[in-house]
Amino acid sequence: MQIAITRAVSAGIAACELTHLERQAIDLDRARVQHRAYEEALARAGCRVESLPALDELPDSVFVEDVAIVLDELAVITRPGAESRRPETEHMAPVLAGHRRLSFIQEPGTLDGGDVLRLGRRIFVGQSGRSDERGIEQLRAVAWPYGYTVAAVPVSGCLHLKSAVTKVAPGVVLVNPAWIDAAALGDVLVLHIDPDEPYAANGLLVGGRLIYPTSFPKTRRQLEAAGLTVDAVDVSELQKAEGAVTCCSLVFAGS
Ligand code: GLY
Repeated sequence: MQIAITRAVSAGIAACELTHLERQAIDLDRARVQHRAYEEALARAGCRVESLPALDELPDSVFVEDVAIVLDELAVITRPGAESRRPETEHMAPVLAGHRRLSFIQEPGTLDGGDVLRLGRRIFVGQSGRSDERGIEQLRAVAWPYGYTVAAVPVSGCLHLKSAVTKVAPGVVLVNPAWIDAAALGDVLVLHIDPDEPYAANGLLVGGRLIYPTSFPKTRRQLEAAGLTVDAVDVSELQKAEGAVTCCSLVFAGS
């Protein structure tokens, strides 16, 4: 059984961090409806969804992926690059302690889960504005004893590594080549987004289905033509907060 941890949309989401997008009004009610539909997609994919209550004083707290990296062997509580997001970790640690042994990224290192892409035993970490060398080195130190390699990957033009690349099928990644050089990922089949849809590289593969935004129809058609099962969800309000489908959940094997 896969577990998906989510957190309801903060009433304060209008004050979210923004790095590459202009601030736009976010319809909170609509964002919450979209988030519930996203949770339903996780359930359709076979997850047991553990939905946590909203943290209204923490605008970005719906984006739970950034505060932890859950491996089979342990969970690493991150130290997010944006200072406003660091208190989110205190709320996630007790939840994950029920599932895994915990390790913590320590000051002065920073690491956002959105920068962490795992392909089997290979972990890639984006060198973004949010994750730095010290955070990456700390992740390497806790993961290597379990047989994981940890490689830093340059990214530019986007918030996180997983804005630029995600796994969409076993051995297959979806990439925006303007933001990352996929050669850094080694032996993997690379699909490219449609160039008209620069934010389209973020999909969430779970239970053999790809949870994917409705807002990228051209790339979606390519994915379906490649034989992928796509479950399209409207996350347009969360996208205004520079969110995407991976960042709204932490998905891992139940123990
Ligand atoms: N608004 C999402 C983030 O910047 O972390």
